[in-house]
Amino acid sequence: MGAEQGVTSLRSGHNLFPYEREARALIGLALSAWAAGYAALGVQDIAGWAVIAASAVMAVYITRTALHQHCALYAALGINAAAERRSRYMALLPAYNPAPVLAFDDQGEVRFRNELAEGRFGAIERLTDILGPSAPDPQAAVELGERFQATVDIQDRSYQLCGQGVPGAGTLLLYGFDVTQVVSLQREMISTQADIIYRMGEIGETRSEEVGHHVRRVALYSRILAELAGLDSEAASTLEMASPMHDIGKVAIPDRVLGKPGKLDDEEWALMKRHASIGHDLLSRSSRPILQAAATVAHQHHERWDGSGYPQGLAGKDIHIYGRITALADVFDALGSDRVYKPAWSLDAILDLLRRERGHHFDPALVDAFLEHLDRFLAVREQYADPV
Ligand SMILES: [Fe+2]
Ligand SMILES: [Fe+2]
Repeated sequence: MGAEQGVTSLRSGHNLFPYEREARALIGLALSAWAAGYAALGVQDIAGWAVIAASAVMAVYITRTALHQHCALYAALGINAAAERRSRYMALLPAYNPAPVLAFDDQGEVRFRNELAEGRFGAIERLTDILGPSAPDPQAAVELGERFQATVDIQDRSYQLCGQGVPGAGTLLLYGFDVTQVVSLQREMISTQADIIYRMGEIGETRSEEVGHHVRRVALYSRILAELAGLDSEAASTLEMASPMHDIGKVAIPDRVLGKPGKLDDEEWALMKRHASIGHDLLSRSSRPILQAAATVAHQHHERWDGSGYPQGLAGKDIHIYGRITALADVFDALGSDRVYKPAWSLDAILDLLRRERGHHFDPALVDAFLEHLDRFLAVREQYADPV
């Protein structure tokens, strides 16, 4: 423990000038010495004793002002009033801050916490107790006067923590701001967005009677593949939300084509292939990054690594990584499900096809990653299996 409350009373603002404290202490000492020396000389008259008494009183008063860094005479005359006000109110801030405040030493041990920090954060003893392993090195932060921010969840609430190293004071200050409402609104917004996107994706799939959890599985397969392909977590999340919309363009394809059991004739096939461009046209009108990504996915999910796909006949890495990933995720899932034009394939048959199409239909690196981490994809397939 050892955290002090350190509250300065409202009446004790410091109002001495720089170095005046030291000067007053010296004067107090000198006066005491002078009074003691004078008394030792053997004073006999009343006037002499009066001088000694006055000097002693002055010495006590001056020493006291030095100790408290506050001179009542200055306060009465309004001397250095700005400094007094400043110190009075600064002293109140840490203890009565409307936000939780913690101060750590340069070893990361807590040295001060205000009441709010005590109530909200509980027993924080070290910087890592609140910031976890990602806490900055306290010594370096103090030395460099570093500023940092982090968002943490504590007891059902979210806090934005702002830290500041104070060089010279050997202290690291941490202020917490309750951002629970902002964070929950943001989470709500993201999940609403994801929900609408799933529903949109399902519209495309329902048109072709690809119902069940197809879009959800494709989203999750795409995320795993994105991570395996080395995309950062923001890009992986964007793709996870965008890939369910790959077939949204099917809203514009006639029922007789979409619902036809068996093979499509040339005219029907040409119509069917238009869903990629239609999806792209629908989605690319939005400037939102997720819808932009979805436009790319809709446009390119039927492109093939060897250039034999549609609608643009792109090849290799000219196909956006989002397109290459969704192509693999979509085919893997579609083959494993019953469709109007075919029954579900066995897992072995699907894996055979992926190996065969490695470098033809699919990006070889993605196929390799997929096969190497097959268990992760099968876990998703099992978790979101369609009801029989
Ligand atoms: Fe498609
Ligand atoms: Fe699909």
